[in-house]
Amino acid sequence: MLTDALPRVRLGDLPTPVEELPRLTRALGGPRLFIKRDDQTGLASGGNKTRKLEFTVAEALRQGADTLITVGGVQSNHCRQTAAAAARCGLRCIVVLRGQAPTTWNGNLLLDHLLGARVVFSGNRTREEVAEEVAKAEEASGHHPHVIPVGASNAVGAVGFVAAIEELDSQLKERKLHADRVVFASSSFGTQAGLCVGAKAIGFKGQLAAIAIDSPREELQTQVAEIAAATSRRLGLQMSFSPNEVVGYDGYLGAGYAIMGEPEREAISLMARCEGILLDPVYTGRAMAGLIDLIRTGEFGKDETIVFWHTGGSAALFAYADQLLAGANLDR
Ligand SMILES: Cc1ncc(COP(=O)(O)O)c(C=O)c1O
Repeated sequence: MLTDALPRVRLGDLPTPVEELPRLTRALGGPRLFIKRDDQTGLASGGNKTRKLEFTVAEALRQGADTLITVGGVQSNHCRQTAAAAARCGLRCIVVLRGQAPTTWNGNLLLDHLLGARVVFSGNRTREEVAEEVAKAEEASGHHPHVIPVGASNAVGAVGFVAAIEELDSQLKERKLHADRVVFASSSFGTQAGLCVGAKAIGFKGQLAAIAIDSPREELQTQVAEIAAATSRRLGLQMSFSPNEVVGYDGYLGAGYAIMGEPEREAISLMARCEGILLDPVYTGRAMAGLIDLIRTGEFGKDETIVFWHTGGSAALFAYADQLLAGANLDR
């Protein structure tokens, strides 16, 4: 494995399963669809951050940290998994969330609390600024904080997805499958950067097709190439990455980050009813909505084999209950 030399704390139930989606494939009239179940990584309801945190927490422990501090949105899956990872490793955790405290603590926010994290809201200031201030206060009181960037999307965290694409590659080879594309949500870019590094290093042939969640394509391409280059350096691989080789579809940004619209609602419902699998309103719902559209418009061919990477997040569904139920006939 490319990542064997790096410190790692085992937090996830890995490898996660690869499953075929025959009913969804039929509902869409092809292509042949599979799903990589990173919603089943097992860390307090799972998700892609488990893989990044295995390397991130190991780095924090190596530096003598006793407290993890990180940042996110109110329904951050990353913060919830960081809180769980901290609990598992006997560390304290502080999460700095954007904006003001909501009146109802639900979904991931409720779980942050249950998992023992201290929750701080950034108000009108940036989350990063508040996190730095919190870290200084922790140091002043004798603690050793370690600040993890949003989404753990730096060269340390992205390494988790270098290992992940190796994992998927060996699962596909074992089943004599070839993926024409791997489709996934991209937001803070670490998942995509890690996948790009691993894919290039092992010669993975499928296209890595990101659905942008909240950024225009050019920004996604530049950021992914940057994180990928840093990640490859961390692994001792001197690979270069150009923004042009990074694939991202930015036609599905909707009304903005974390604002669920009809495409996400349809994708969540279709996946749930065809396959009994729960997506989330912010990331995987949007990514699946993008995939469905790219299939319907013929951008992705009916004769292809596509792996959809489920990156988790279903804990956020409960915070969107009213919107998910809007217009539903509950009496049928
Ligand atoms: C469920 C889920 N999927 C996908 C992503 C995107 O991953 P990344 O931030 O590494 O691009 C995130 C986090 O941002 C997430 O919580």
